[in-house]
Amino acid sequence: MEAPHNSLATEATEGAAPGTVTLSLAVESPEEMQALGRRIAAILRPGDLVMLTGELGAGKTTLTRGLGEGLGVRGAVTSPTFVIARVHPSLTGGPALVHVDAYRLGGGLDEMEDLDLDVSLPESVVVVEWGDGKVEELSDDRLQVVIDRAVGDTDEERREVTLVGIGARWAGLREV
Ligand SMILES: Nc1ncnc2c1ncn2[C@@H]1O[C@H](COP(=O)(O)OP(=O)(O)OP(=O)(O)O)[C@@H](O)[C@H]1O
Ligand SMILES: [Mg+2]
Repeated sequence: MEAPHNSLATEATEGAAPGTVTLSLAVESPEEMQALGRRIAAILRPGDLVMLTGELGAGKTTLTRGLGEGLGVRGAVTSPTFVIARVHPSLTGGPALVHVDAYRLGGGLDEMEDLDLDVSLPESVVVVEWGDGKVEELSDDRLQVVIDRAVGDTDEERREVTLVGIGARWAGLREV
């Protein structure tokens, strides 16, 4: 079934697990993934934690690039593979974007706090790639973005994106 071109929110389910809200979206191209990042940025606030999940090359950094554009931060968002975290200060008086690659973050939260990022995490938007099982304790509330290639799909650029809002912060999530 072909998703309507401009419709990002295809389904909102409440109560899949207590305290979570789920939105499923179809994303057809890298450009659309970046645009989704910009739309998500529009609903982000200081102190928010966004966790990105998806295999190598799923599009996590591409989405983060859109988040950076939407937040109006300085510096190009690139893959942080050779640094654990990169801070992009806001150019517009908004929250900084802290982009974390948790892949090599063995110790989880403690190490994150030891990074000495010279930025206040509660005043920033923290986006983490590969953070599952490592950074959940940073916040009771978090937005999980799960990126999958559609099963059996031959279109190389199609992704299924599931937004899972966890905690009171995201209880009102209905569309992006
Ligand atoms: N729908 C899509 N959304 C995002 N990226 C796509 C899409 N279709 C194709 N691509 C391509 O897939 C690649 C995604 O790379 P990206 O660095 O964003 O992935 P990643 O999930 O961050 O990978 P890594 O696990 O290595 O950090 C890019 O080359 C991009 O052009
Ligand atoms: Mg990446």
